[in-house]
Amino acid sequence: MTFPYKTAVITGASAGIGREMAIELARKGCAVGLLARREDELTKTAEMVRAAGGKAVTAVCDVAKRESILLAMALVRTEIGAPELVIANAGIAMEKRPLNFDAAMEERLMQVNFMGVVDTIYAALPDMVARKSGHVVAISSLASFQGLPANGAYCASKAALNVHMEALRLEMRPLGIAVTTICPGFIYTDLIKNNKHPMPFIMSAEKAARKIIRAIARKRRTFKFPWPISLAVALGHFTPRWLYDRLLTRIYGGKK
Ligand SMILES: NC(=O)c1ccc[n+]([C@@H]2O[C@H](COP(=O)([O-])OP(=O)(O)OC[C@H]3O[C@@H](n4cnc5c(N)ncnc54)[C@H](OP(=O)(O)O)[C@@H]3O)[C@@H](O)[C@H]2O)c1
Repeated sequence: MTFPYKTAVITGASAGIGREMAIELARKGCAVGLLARREDELTKTAEMVRAAGGKAVTAVCDVAKRESILLAMALVRTEIGAPELVIANAGIAMEKRPLNFDAAMEERLMQVNFMGVVDTIYAALPDMVARKSGHVVAISSLASFQGLPANGAYCASKAALNVHMEALRLEMRPLGIAVTTICPGFIYTDLIKNNKHPMPFIMSAEKAARKIIRAIARKRRTFKFPWPISLAVALGHFTPRWLYDRLLTRIYGGKK
């Protein structure tokens, strides 16, 4: 299948899944705008993209600041043109201890994982609406379908994102703009490397990126993977609460 886009922007391209998606897009002949805060790591991604035969432009950007996103998008637009594909991937995870409510942490998670994604997408939409074509993608998580111990704010930020993306998909449909929500399970990156609980079916970032880019090419509305975890999440909703609570407390019980 020929990849349908020639220009793309990825946030969170300095590491993990974002970096691997940039390389995969380069292999598909896509010029990529790479956004994140760490300039040195962005430069490394750009070198990898070029080694894969692609064109890359980097822009330092903090998705928690709307102005920073707008500036970065403007720079990318000048260098490679208005992006046909935007992947709002930048995200953070922070775990909290029981009874240790940290308002600043909760706010930061919502700011980066929810507002950061929405702001990124809305920064790119005017060009897409004018052309009546384009594709916006949010990287959510399978953690968005239930509240997980120590991760309430992370799960909530991704759940909010799912619902917002669903609304956007329906709004954009008549305008010819595709909207995709990606929900990965455990992917081996810095984000989760310190997790103490079991992480079944964990996958490399490279493999995850290949799967995500394929789902984007197919214009999937939502893409949940790997399928065994996706199935377990779905079954979890039909499991009696007494059993579900027991299982989840046991799995995440190691956290203090
Ligand atoms: N790994 C998993 O198991 C997993 C599972 C489900 C969903 N996800 C989601 O996948 C996405 C990518 O995560 P990852 O696993 O690849 O994590 P990662 O390796 O930690 O990479 C996160 C990326 O986000 C960027 N970022 C963080 N805060 C930012 C900010 N304020 N402004 C701009 N960029 C920012 C980081 O770059 P800088 O630090 O340079 O800014 C980095 O490039 C996230 O949305 C995450 O929630 C991950």
